[in-house]
Amino acid sequence: MSATPKAKELTEVSEAQIAVHWKEEEYYQPSEQFKAQANMRDPRIFEKFGLDRFPDCFKTYADMLTWFEPYHTVLDTSDAPFWKWFVGGKINASYNCVDRHLEKHGGKAAFIFVPEPEAEQDVTLTYRDLYERVNEMAALLRGLGLKAGDRVTLHMPMVPELPITMLACARLGVIHSQVFGGFSGQACGSRIEDSGSRMLVTMDAYWRNGTLIDHKVNADIAVRAAKELGQDVDKVLVWQRHPGKYSAKTPMVAGRDVFVNDLLKDYNGKKVDPVALPGDAPLFLMYSSGTTGKPKGAQHGIAGYLAYVTATSKWVLDIHPDDVYWCMADIGWITGHSYIVYGPLAIAATGVLYEGVPTYPDAGRPWRIAERLGVNIFHTAPTAIRMLRKLGPQEPRKYKYRFKSMTTVGEPIEPEAWRWYYDEVGKREAVITDTWWMTETGGFLGTTMPAIHPMKPGSCGPAAPGIHPVIYDETGAEVSKGSGTAGNMCIRNPWPGIMQTIWGDRERYVKTYFAKYNKNPKSKDWRDWPFLCGDGAVQAADGYYRILGRIDDVINVAGHRLGTKEIESACLTVPEVAEAAVVPVQDEVKGRVPEVYVALKPGVPPSQAVIDRVIKANEEVIGKIARPKHVYIVPDMPKTRSGKIMRRVLAAISNRRDVGDVTTLANPDVVEQIRVMVQGKDVTKTQDALPEDIAKFGQVE
Ligand code: WTA
Repeated sequence: MSATPKAKELTEVSEAQIAVHWKEEEYYQPSEQFKAQANMRDPRIFEKFGLDRFPDCFKTYADMLTWFEPYHTVLDTSDAPFWKWFVGGKINASYNCVDRHLEKHGGKAAFIFVPEPEAEQDVTLTYRDLYERVNEMAALLRGLGLKAGDRVTLHMPMVPELPITMLACARLGVIHSQVFGGFSGQACGSRIEDSGSRMLVTMDAYWRNGTLIDHKVNADIAVRAAKELGQDVDKVLVWQRHPGKYSAKTPMVAGRDVFVNDLLKDYNGKKVDPVALPGDAPLFLMYSSGTTGKPKGAQHGIAGYLAYVTATSKWVLDIHPDDVYWCMADIGWITGHSYIVYGPLAIAATGVLYEGVPTYPDAGRPWRIAERLGVNIFHTAPTAIRMLRKLGPQEPRKYKYRFKSMTTVGEPIEPEAWRWYYDEVGKREAVITDTWWMTETGGFLGTTMPAIHPMKPGSCGPAAPGIHPVIYDETGAEVSKGSGTAGNMCIRNPWPGIMQTIWGDRERYVKTYFAKYNKNPKSKDWRDWPFLCGDGAVQAADGYYRILGRIDDVINVAGHRLGTKEIESACLTVPEVAEAAVVPVQDEVKGRVPEVYVALKPGVPPSQAVIDRVIKANEEVIGKIARPKHVYIVPDMPKTRSGKIMRRVLAAISNRRDVGDVTTLANPDVVEQIRVMVQGKDVTKTQDALPEDIAKFGQVE
C-alpha cells in the first residue's frame, strides 16, 4: 500500500463511457499508536476471507455470538437468492446484546443518554439496568398478547426507550419495524399497513432544536392512515418523555392509547426468558425508498445480521471494552440499528445516545459532549460534518476531547470536508473509516480496515473482509480497476448481513437486486446471483472504490434516502397539480436536496398558495426532510414524443448545467422557458461535470 498515487490525475473518458472526473488524492496513514491497539491488524485476514474460503470463513463471525443450540449449515442456498445463514441453530438477539454481559459487565454503562436541553441530566443505563428494563418491557408486550413472528411498528425519537423496546421485541421474537421519528404520521401509517402491525409504540414528545415537539399527534394520523389502507391498530403504547407527565397536547384515545409508564407498574421486576429462535427467523424490518412509490421493508434475520454487525463493530469500528463510542446517527435508520444498538451492544460497548440536533444550541455541542463523557470513537455523516464545519470551523479546538477513530457514513464525502474532519475534528490523530453500505446490506461493505489500510479522502477504500465487489457495465461486462470508468457496483457473493427479502414481496426482491445480472433464475449457486447495490462507482488502480451515488431515482438528502416517486406522489395529492417531477440538486450542506416542478390542471392560475400547498403535502405525506428547496410551476413538462417527462433535462436546469440537445423533445421550446424561470435570463450554467448520480438521473424509467 505504499504506492504513490498519481497526484492530480484527471482521467479523460470517451463519450461511450460515463464521464468520471477523478482527481487522485494522497493517502493518509494510521498512526503507529492506533495500529498497535487495533482489534484487527493482521492483513492476512483478507486471505482468510477469500472467495475460495467462502462461506465457511464467516463461521468466525457466528462464533462471536452465544448460541442456545449450534447451527449445522453456514449458508443454505436452496432457495436462491433468498439466502439463509447459520441454519439449524437457536439464538436470541436480546440475550446476546444484554444477558450474556451481565456477569462481566453488569455495572458498566451500556448507554449514556444525553438529552438535548443542556441543563437536563444525562441518564446512564448499565447493562444490568438495561436487562431489567428490557425484561419488564418484554413482559408487558407479552402481556398484551404479542408473540414470535408478530410485527410491531415503532415511531420513536432518540431516547433509551427506543433500544429498550427493540430489545424487548427481540427477546420475544416479535419483529420490530422502527420508522424514523422525523417521518410524518402518514408515512408511518403506510409502513404500519405494509408490515401488518396491530400495535404502534410511540412517545408523547421529544426535544428538537430547543422545542418539545408533540409527537403523539403523529400516532393519531398514522393509525388513521393505516386504517384507510385496511390495517387496524388496536393498541398505541405511548412512552412519556418526562415520566409521570404527559407532554403532548393531543388527547389519548380511550381504549386504544395507553401510557407505557403506567402499564409497566404491573410488570415491576418481571423477567422473561429470551425465546430460543431459529437463526434465520426475522429480527426486524427497515423500510427504505426505491424506484417505485412504495417503500420496501428490508427484512433482516437474527443470526446472520447480528453476527455481521457484531464482527464489523469489533474490527472496523474497533470498539474495545473501555472505549466510549458515540454514533450520532438516528436509530430510526439502519446505521442506528446496526451501529448504535445491535453491533455495539453485542460486544458490550458503552455508547452515547444523543437526543437532539448536533448544532443545538451551537456548533460546539458535540465537542462539549465528547469532552465531558470522554468519547474516543466518533461516528457521523457527511451532512453533519459539513454543517458543523460551516457553523463552527474552529470549535473543535476549544475542547479537550481526543478521538482515536472516526467514521463517516451515508453519503459520499468530498475530500475537502474529509480533510476538515481529519484535521480539526480528529486533530490529525484519529483514523477515519469511510464506510459505504446500505439498509439492505445490514452492515459495512466498502471500508478500509483502519489499522491495515491507509485512508484516501473521498474513497471508501477496498471492501470489508469477505465482501467481494465487482463493477459491471450495462451489458454485464466487468469494468476493470484503474480504467477511470464508472459502472454499477455489485457484490459477487452473499454475506451474513444481507437482508433476507423484501417483506411480503419476494418478486420485488429478486427484481430489484438480482435480475439485472442473473443469467439463470433457476440457479442454486450463489455465483450466479451478484447483488446489485444501486450505486454507481469507480475503482482506482489501487483497488479503492469511490462511490458516486444512487442510480435508481433515489435522492440521498442529508444521508436519508427519499424516492423521487414518493415525492411526486405527495405533490399529486394537491388537487391543482396535474403533473409533478422531482430532481436532485447539489447542496453545500445536505449533499442533495429535492427540487420540484409541477404543471397545473387547465384553468388553474399559478400562485404562491399552490406552491405552499405542494410543500405542505411533502411534509405531511413524507416528513420535513422531504421539503423541496424550490417548487417551480411550469407551463408544461419537457417531454419525449412518447409523453415521458425528461427529468434529466430538469435536473440539468436545476443544477445550472447545459441541457444538451433537446430538439428531439415533443416541446423543445418549453425547456428555454423553464430555464429562464429557474436560472434567470442570463446563461448561468457552470462547466463543472455533473455528479454521476445527477447525470444519470431519470434513466431508470
Ligand atoms: C449512500 C445508509 C458514499 C449510497 C448506511 C447508498 C454512501 C445509500 C456511503 C444507502 C458512503 C452510504 N459513501 N455513499 N460511505 N454510505 N452511502 O440505505 O448511495 O440509508 O446506496 O444506508 O447511501 O443509504 P441507506
